[in-house]
Amino acid sequence: MAKMEVKTSLLDDMIGVGDMVLLEPLNEDSFINNLKKRFDHNEVYTYIGSVVISINPYRSLPIYNPEKVEEYRNRNFYELSPHIFALADEAYRSLRDQDKDQCILITGESGAGKTEASKLVMSYVAAVCGKGAEVNQVKEQLLQSNPVLEAFGNAKTVRNDNSSRFGKYMDIEFDFKGDPLGGVISNYLLEKSRVVKQPRGERNFHIFYQILSGASEEFLCKLKLERDFSRYNYLGLDSARVNGVDDASNFRTVRNAMQIVGFMDHETQSIFEVVAAVLKLGNIEFKPESRANGLDESKIKDKNELKEICELTGIDQSVLERAFSFRTVEAKQEKVSTTLNVAQAYYARDALAKNLYSRLFSWLVTRINESIKAQTKVRKKVMGVLDIYGFEIFEDNSFEQFIINYCNEKLQQIFIELTLKEEQEEYIREGIEWTHIEYFNNAIICDLIENNQTGILAMLDEECLRPGTVTDDTFLEKLNQVCATHQHFESRMSKCSRFLNDTSLPHSCFRIQHYAGKVMYQVEGFVDKNNDLLYRDLSQAMWKANHSLIKALFPEGNPAKINLKRPPTAGSQFKASVATLMKNLQTKNPNYIRCIKPNDKKAAHIFNEALVCHQIRYLGLLENVRVRRAGYAFRQPYEPCLERYKMLCKQTWPHWRGPARAGVEVLFNELGIPEDEFSFGRSKIFIRNPRTLFKLEDLRKQRLEDLATLIEKIYRGWKCRTRFLLMKKCQIVIASWYRRYAQQKKYQRIKSSAITVQSYIRGWKARKVLRELKHLKRCNEAATVIAAYWHGTQARRELKRLKEEARRKHAVAVIWAYWLGLKVRREYRKFFRANAGRKIYEFTLQRLMQKYFLEMKNKMPSLSPIDKNWPARPYLFLDSTHKELKRIFHLWRCKKYRDQFTDQQKLIYEEKLEASELFKDKKALYPASVGQPFQGAYLEISENPKYKKLKDAVDEKIIIAEVVNKINRANGKAASRIFLLTKNNVLLADQKSGTIKSEVPLGDVTKVSMSSQNDGFFAVHLKEGSEAASKGDFLLSSDHLIEMATKLYRTTLSQTKQKLNIEISDEFLVQFKQDKVCVKFIQGSQKNGNIPTCKRKNNRLLEVAVP
Ligand SMILES: Nc1ncnc2c1ncn2[C@@H]1O[C@H](COP(=O)(O)OP(=O)(O)OP(=O)(O)O)[C@@H](O)[C@H]1O
Ligand SMILES: [Mg+2]
Repeated sequence: MAKMEVKTSLLDDMIGVGDMVLLEPLNEDSFINNLKKRFDHNEVYTYIGSVVISINPYRSLPIYNPEKVEEYRNRNFYELSPHIFALADEAYRSLRDQDKDQCILITGESGAGKTEASKLVMSYVAAVCGKGAEVNQVKEQLLQSNPVLEAFGNAKTVRNDNSSRFGKYMDIEFDFKGDPLGGVISNYLLEKSRVVKQPRGERNFHIFYQILSGASEEFLCKLKLERDFSRYNYLGLDSARVNGVDDASNFRTVRNAMQIVGFMDHETQSIFEVVAAVLKLGNIEFKPESRANGLDESKIKDKNELKEICELTGIDQSVLERAFSFRTVEAKQEKVSTTLNVAQAYYARDALAKNLYSRLFSWLVTRINESIKAQTKVRKKVMGVLDIYGFEIFEDNSFEQFIINYCNEKLQQIFIELTLKEEQEEYIREGIEWTHIEYFNNAIICDLIENNQTGILAMLDEECLRPGTVTDDTFLEKLNQVCATHQHFESRMSKCSRFLNDTSLPHSCFRIQHYAGKVMYQVEGFVDKNNDLLYRDLSQAMWKANHSLIKALFPEGNPAKINLKRPPTAGSQFKASVATLMKNLQTKNPNYIRCIKPNDKKAAHIFNEALVCHQIRYLGLLENVRVRRAGYAFRQPYEPCLERYKMLCKQTWPHWRGPARAGVEVLFNELGIPEDEFSFGRSKIFIRNPRTLFKLEDLRKQRLEDLATLIEKIYRGWKCRTRFLLMKKCQIVIASWYRRYAQQKKYQRIKSSAITVQSYIRGWKARKVLRELKHLKRCNEAATVIAAYWHGTQARRELKRLKEEARRKHAVAVIWAYWLGLKVRREYRKFFRANAGRKIYEFTLQRLMQKYFLEMKNKMPSLSPIDKNWPARPYLFLDSTHKELKRIFHLWRCKKYRDQFTDQQKLIYEEKLEASELFKDKKALYPASVGQPFQGAYLEISENPKYKKLKDAVDEKIIIAEVVNKINRANGKAASRIFLLTKNNVLLADQKSGTIKSEVPLGDVTKVSMSSQNDGFFAVHLKEGSEAASKGDFLLSSDHLIEMATKLYRTTLSQTKQKLNIEISDEFLVQFKQDKVCVKFIQGSQKNGNIPTCKRKNNRLLEVAVP
């Protein structure tokens, strides 16, 4: 948006003049000076009206970046400083918006920057036109066709390191929206002689060097090439490497570009094979060999190279070899074969190389066209870009320069025609009277060259086709005859006497006065080059190649299509293609870029005036300006004109309300510009003389300065006033704030003093009141105390009185009672003594008993036999009753308890009772046994299969089955035995095997001894003389001693009806076989825990230490 608002003009910040039409005075010097001045300030572009003059800066300037593209996008041509982008934008917009096909004609001499300019135009258009995946691909393909064509068609020359050696015209096609659809490239006259020979200091086409530097070893090997440039005769050695050119990296760029453009891998491969074949052709050498008929015949020196070429191209070696040695001429069904001498062989070799390469190049262009061809059939808009060699004047000018200059001559013609036409059209459009313009029309020169009957090209063709000996000299002779009278043709040999003595014109040359200057052409080579002959044997050999590309390049080699007619000559071909080009260009709106080379050194910052002057002359730039200025030098639409100069007149400044044209009229009248100096068109004002415009510009500048001063003055005044007002406002605000602050402070001080004073007064008042209150309170308190004391005194006095009174009353009552009692006793003594005493006593007693029992009923203890509770005795006299009641109750509840027992429980309790009778208070072990139930059969003999044998041996009921320790007399150690008690016997059995060791009938057991302590030792004494006694008594120990002894006692009693003697003593004798041993129990240490230990002290004493 901002862009649209900025109103700029070409006239702003101009260095020199941006448009040469405004140059004043107009002459060659001022023209060059203006260019130089601009060039020195990096302004490489200058306009002549709508033509852009571009001077090659020979260095990269920061004026092609995307920001610049944006700057020039959609801007009017004259709005910004001159730039190639402005031209490209103008062309693109009129193509897109006005539906006018465009062509951009870029001319200039070699190295002037044509190719760069064409690329800049293309890249600008690519940047501003539509976007999208498909469009971008088209753009990319169009842009990438450049590196491919440059690699094959450009070479380093002394004038340009990247000189285009062919002419190129590219049509870019757009759809109605302005999106690119595709393109068509036409190429003109590749300089193919370069393939076989390059002038000193120049190179062959880039691609040869690129392959050798950039291809991988493997690829080179495939192409049978070596990396060394010096191996190839066709590569000029003196400048094989070019400063600042990286052939290897360019090779990668080219391959990449080929891929983008759409070359298939096999195509690329074929192309490079052809290139390699051309390179290798140069290495084929010939030697003379005499033949019998005395004629010299050429032979190939070293056939190795030939062999490799044939392998590369798939040609039969013998066919090619023959084609290099013989020439077959066919005439009227007759074939005549002649041998070639060495010179002819070399000629044939070079012709083949040149043809191969130039046809490859044309094929490449066709192939690229196939790729970039627009895919749709919709109507297209076209922008053509012509990058063609400029006018060339060398020391030695040959056929090529002649052709090139002819092309430039045609371009100049079309330029003049179109420029004038455009000018004329504009005048008609604007309704301005057309004034005739004098200019040089070069049609006459074109006619000299191209006239079908008398033109130089026609002469040349005639000469070439003529039978008989034809040489360059015969051609020159012919020219001298035919063209001698032409005013632009000069020759020493011509009949025209003018040049007879002109020594600057050698005899073998002719000179043409081109529009851009005189050029002298060496006639040598004209015929040959025009003929462009390739021996048929060679083209046939090529056609036979087993290589599709090469075969396709030489269609005329096909014997089936043999054509005896000569192919068209190079000159006529070129003429035809130029004619087509001209026709094409005439249908389009032309845009010109005229490139100028500032120096011959390819160096930046150097402006060689002579060189530039020469180019200006032959480009006819001054004429261009004159044509443009012939009528009116400057024209501008009314709106921008009024906008630019409206400040010069009071009526139009600052705003003009009416139509712009009326405004401009008023303005010009006011300024007093003479009427013949300007003219009013329909939409534009036309100014005849640049002086008038500059006067306007000067006035504008002056006025702008005045306006600037005015604006500055007003602005300053406004700024000061605003500042003053602001300061004033600030001052008021600050003052009011300060006052407020000061008043606040003061108020606060007063307030705090008032509060202080007030508080003092209030304090003083309060203290006064307090004092009074305190006094009052003390008075009250004093009164109360006095009253209290007084009341106390009164009360005590009263109390004392009452007490005294009560004592007295009581005393009276007691005395009265005693008195009464005394009286009653005295009266009733005689009745009472008889029976009342006894009755009262019995009644009291009964009453007490009743109370006792009733209370007892409520206080009965529980029915548990072990409950020790019993209510306390209430009266001493009931002591014995109370005890008896307790005993009866206990017996009763015991009975109640016993009544619940089953028979088995009864038995257990009987046993327990027995044990109690036997051991209570006798054996310390007893209390612990009370809680343990007597189980008897601890070992489950009948269930455990281990004791089956034992069970089988004992058929009586087992009362006890338990493991006991049998103490060994010899050492006091214990051994485990099973102790069994049956109804009739005591048995000891081995614990492990269950074998019965001893069996004693109960009748033989006389006594059981044990200590009174807390141990399980016991001795079973046997009847002396009995069978069992022979082994002696048993000294055993058991964990269930109390139970065992009780059961043994009870069983013995029931079996033998005799009480078993149980001796409880801490020392007893035990009979072991013959001896009696004393077992003594002593108090032992707790070393072994709670287990008693038995030790043999001597033969007669075993000591058991009980802890
Ligand atoms: N606008 C430019 N900015 C910077 N360098 C440029 C510019 N134009 C041309 N050059 C330099 O000048 C050299 C020659 O330019 P270019 O190849 O365009 O010349 P040409 O007119 O096409 O020559 P030929 O007729 O030999 O093909 C370029 O390689 C480049 O280095
Ligand atoms: Mg070029």
